Amino acid sequence: MPKLLHGGDYNPDQWLDRPDILAKDILLMKEASINSATLGVFAWAALEPQEGNYQLGWLEDIINNLWDNGISTILATPSGAKPNWLAEKYPEARRVNRNGQRELAGERHNHCFTSPVYREKVSAINEKLAERFGTHPAVTLWHISNEYGGECFCDLCKDEFRKWLKNKHKTIENLNKSWWTSFWSHTYNSFEQISPPVPYGEQGLHGLVLDWKRFVTDQTLDFCKHEIEAVRKYSEKPVTTNFMEFFGGLNYFKFKDTIDVVSWDSYPAWHTKNDVTTSMTTSMAHDLMRSIKKQPFLMIESTPSTTNWQPISKLKKPGVHMLSSLMALAHGSDSVMYFQWRKSRGASEKFHGAVVDHFGGSETRVFQDVAAVGKKLLEISDLAGAEINPDIAIIYDWENRWAIETLRGQRNVGANYLDSISDHYRALWEMGIPVDIADCECDFSGYKLVIAPMLYMLRAGIEEKLRDFVKNGGILVGTYMTGQVDENDLCFLGGFPACGLGEVFGLWAEEMDALKDDERNSFLYQGKERFSRDFAELVHPKGAEVLGTYTKDFYAGHPALLKNQFGKGTAYYLATRPEADFCQSFYKDLTAELGIKGFEVEPGVVKSRRGKFVFTLDFNRLSADVKEEEI
Ligand code: GLA
Ligand code: ZN
Repeated sequence: MPKLLHGGDYNPDQWLDRPDILAKDILLMKEASINSATLGVFAWAALEPQEGNYQLGWLEDIINNLWDNGISTILATPSGAKPNWLAEKYPEARRVNRNGQRELAGERHNHCFTSPVYREKVSAINEKLAERFGTHPAVTLWHISNEYGGECFCDLCKDEFRKWLKNKHKTIENLNKSWWTSFWSHTYNSFEQISPPVPYGEQGLHGLVLDWKRFVTDQTLDFCKHEIEAVRKYSEKPVTTNFMEFFGGLNYFKFKDTIDVVSWDSYPAWHTKNDVTTSMTTSMAHDLMRSIKKQPFLMIESTPSTTNWQPISKLKKPGVHMLSSLMALAHGSDSVMYFQWRKSRGASEKFHGAVVDHFGGSETRVFQDVAAVGKKLLEISDLAGAEINPDIAIIYDWENRWAIETLRGQRNVGANYLDSISDHYRALWEMGIPVDIADCECDFSGYKLVIAPMLYMLRAGIEEKLRDFVKNGGILVGTYMTGQVDENDLCFLGGFPACGLGEVFGLWAEEMDALKDDERNSFLYQGKERFSRDFAELVHPKGAEVLGTYTKDFYAGHPALLKNQFGKGTAYYLATRPEADFCQSFYKDLTAELGIKGFEVEPGVVKSRRGKFVFTLDFNRLSADVKEEEI
């Protein structure tokens, strides 16, 4: 990235009959120090009003005009929403929902990823765009489609799923074994009998549910690659596709070799719950995005003021736009970009926040906040490209998450995988210590500390990687529910944590109790009572030192926190989910021991470093009025 980008989604296709507005846009963009516009995200109907009738002239004029005024373009492929002529003529392009209904035309993000016709039409328009603009100096990046997501249950997708299964399992006998289909007499005689999991069909075979989710990621990625291939015929410019933080439907790590730059759409629900917590979860999402390719990313969308889709969409209070923009930059973003530049007059997003609202001028508070961020980006433009290379990784694995969310176990009200990850994250974030978010396929050898909350499913050789990591001197923190199932969701026999991880942690986990939402157990750590929740595993040390024991229930006195020397390293095991104060003291000690430095700050302040810049985010100066207790 040559510099920090400031810009966002710009939809001149909605205003082609208003040259006065288009001219005003340029003036206002300059006033707000905008240097990049994202064009054409939903412009298919304007680019190809009838099949094969391409109208790219208006786009060329806009790109040139922006460029003449110092504003570059991120050019989108328009597959996120299809024109009506296409939906009408080619019903197979329309998605079939999980109830088996073929959707009507309209809305967006609802095409079939498998449909050959849709793929052909998308290729055709992408090629046209690439041919015309693929080497244009103004175009810096391709924005492939928009927020890929969702599933299609049409016959084409079902067939593709069966092919995918055949390729993975080879024979139906293997599949039956991997999915444990003898249960409830669900043995398949052929691949043709298999349908995707739906509420009125099979959902009890967890191997099926997981393979379907993996297939959806693979098929979406395949569609994305197909789009990129069309663009690549005429253009070598880098590509991105915009992600949605911890979106459950796709394993974003699988996209890392396909896209050149990670980008994402950040919409924290400011002022509806505790803003410090909101900042923490947003920071964790930024870190996830930076970790996918281990390089700076783009915050390609955010709202300058309010959204229009959260249950309650509050205005950003004074100062919050600057704070949230700096937060993105602190965690590795090379941009602050908006949805949207200008509010539309009609349709479903007319009241979504924008830099320019229906009033149309720059006198507004929101415009002035945006312009202030634009100025700030110019001041700190040296930040662009600065990498962050943490000593610590927290494992968040999408497939493990799917397995945890699918399992029917002892806490069907919520096993809280993501929350338990953020418990650990928060303690480090408060100290301003950078953290990577890694999945099981990542390489851990460069880290000093790896934290692996609820590593229920072992896949991609993670057990070997963690074993070697600790053996060679690394510090590992694991928790309850570790090493219970293989990648097909089959339980390991012979004791948990399985596959040699029991040896690494120096223990055997025999049973696990579930705690009701309002129930707490506790254990002593450094002479203080530390409360814990959700789960209480009953483990037997096999070499591990016991650092803390439960204080309540029939298992009072059983180990809750253990430490084991393994090779040159150390593995800690938390048999229960501690409250925040434990993580704070535990990680303070551990990072000090490892020589990992953060910042000493007053409460309510988070300081962190990126490149030569130190960011200080002062939450005490946030004009939020919601208190922690009110969450
Ligand atoms: C998403 C989409 C945008 C817009 C915004 C609204 O991020 O990509 O097109 O709908 O949400 O917040
Ligand atoms: Zn389909």
